[in-house]
Amino acid sequence: MIGIVGAMEVEIEGIRSKMTDKKEKTVSGVRYVSGRLGKNEVVTAVCGIGKVFAAICAQTMILEFAPSVIINTGVAGSLSAQLNVCDIAVADKVVQHDMDTSPLGDPKGLVSGINVIYFEADRDVCALLSESVREHGINTVSGTIASGDQFIASKEVKNRIAGEFGAIACEMEGAAIGHVCYVNKKPFAVLRAISDKADGVAEIDYPSFCKMAADNYIKVICSFCEKYVG
Ligand code: ADE
Repeated sequence: MIGIVGAMEVEIEGIRSKMTDKKEKTVSGVRYVSGRLGKNEVVTAVCGIGKVFAAICAQTMILEFAPSVIINTGVAGSLSAQLNVCDIAVADKVVQHDMDTSPLGDPKGLVSGINVIYFEADRDVCALLSESVREHGINTVSGTIASGDQFIASKEVKNRIAGEFGAIACEMEGAAIGHVCYVNKKPFAVLRAISDKADGVAEIDYPSFCKMAADNYIKVICSFCEKYVG
């Protein structure tokens, strides 16, 4: 079974509309809809915004549905000149840019106890996702995605996160899902469409972009589900 955790109702609804044999269950206020998509069983959820909601959702999904992999989709701010609005970032690893015990002598981003800074995404799943993105003619870059409980909208903060962690994109959930998957020994991937440059400059009509991005994800996720063998 493939777990799909989305940030946007619109994108997850698009995937759900293509699923058959649907069943649903609500836990801690999150609706999990499972069923078939292509060759695979899938379970979908909209987690809500931020790392805590994302962690609650990923942990529940693992305990209730035991997916073989969790894929996190949504939008992200670009931290790279190679990623423009509507392009797709695929994480090879994720980091929590707001995890900071550096006054105690730790490196920034370190998760104490497990001593991890970067959570590695599953290589094969990432490769298949990137292939599915390219099949649809969408530009994609693979690299570090940085998550934190902040919407980044300034050049200074953007450059700091890019510089400190070598990150290509920023969002608010992916690394929490990576963290939960790491402690549960569960493979994960993060696929994000770029909605902004994280610099506070509004370039686009956000609602119409979200619809466009959602249409892109649905195509990409459906192609992925046709090919993935768990
Ligand atoms: N999601 C989309 N754009 C973002 C940004 N600039 N910062 C954090 N999360 C985002």
